[in-house]
Amino acid sequence: MSTQPLVDVRHLKQYFPIRTGFFETTPLKAVDDISFYVNEGETLGLVGESGCGKTTAGRTILHLYKPTAGEIYYDGNLITEKNIKNYRKEMQIVFQDPYSSLDPRMTVADIIGEPLDIHHLYSNKAERTDKVRHLMDLVGLNSEQANRYAHEFSGGQRQRIGIARALAVDPNFIVCDEPVSALDVSIQAQIINTFEDLQKKLNIAYLFIAHDLLVVRHMSNRIAVMYLGRIVETADASFPQTYPFGG
Ligand SMILES: Nc1ncnc2c1ncn2[C@@H]1O[C@H](COP(=O)(O)OP(=O)(O)O)[C@@H](O)[C@H]1O
Ligand SMILES: [Mg+2]
Repeated sequence: MSTQPLVDVRHLKQYFPIRTGFFETTPLKAVDDISFYVNEGETLGLVGESGCGKTTAGRTILHLYKPTAGEIYYDGNLITEKNIKNYRKEMQIVFQDPYSSLDPRMTVADIIGEPLDIHHLYSNKAERTDKVRHLMDLVGLNSEQANRYAHEFSGGQRQRIGIARALAVDPNFIVCDEPVSALDVSIQAQIINTFEDLQKKLNIAYLFIAHDLLVVRHMSNRIAVMYLGRIVETADASFPQTYPFGG
């Protein structure tokens, strides 16, 4: 086990230019100088009210948005525009809304198989099919249903498809962007258990984003609290249950 953090984020900023006049733009400081780290195999919870910059932070870490300023290190290496493609396999994301994030006209096998295609992770069709089935088993989906379409599945099952897709490239780090917020409360705990089981099995590190402290409290090693683009508190997950959003 290495001694440095798996993912180390330093002074990250993401400013969006907002047009305020014919010639003027004013920066919207969605993420404004945040720093944190995530160790191998651990979970950092990132909580804060809607609009405080959590999604922007998660996407900027993965270079889905180019950072305005700051650095992201993966396993001690600075990630840049030039080398990010070498890290795409290591760092993945599970999106908030499993309805809009999956193409309903694609089959499960297509959705989970796409990253296998992109990263050339099989040598023949049979191996691809095997890998898709294995990934479905891993996330608790019935692999007999590989040829069904995403729209035929419930919200919880769709989120399992999204998780399997993220796992396809065997990542070491996953940004989980409010992955249970869009789901029925009755399903949320099952999906969280799945994330936890996968972490134990595969030693994956999570940045687990939530607006509700209760969701992340029991599964996080540490929790960072965001407010208006900044991290206002980082604490051990055992800090008071009521701070600062109640629940
Ligand atoms: N692509 C974008 N362009 C301009 N503003 C954005 C963009 N994405 C997010 N924002 C703004 O940045 C702020 C943070 O948004 P977001 O990261 O989605 O917050 P959260 O995920 O915590 O709800 C909000 O004010 C939002 O309106
Ligand atoms: Mg968000």
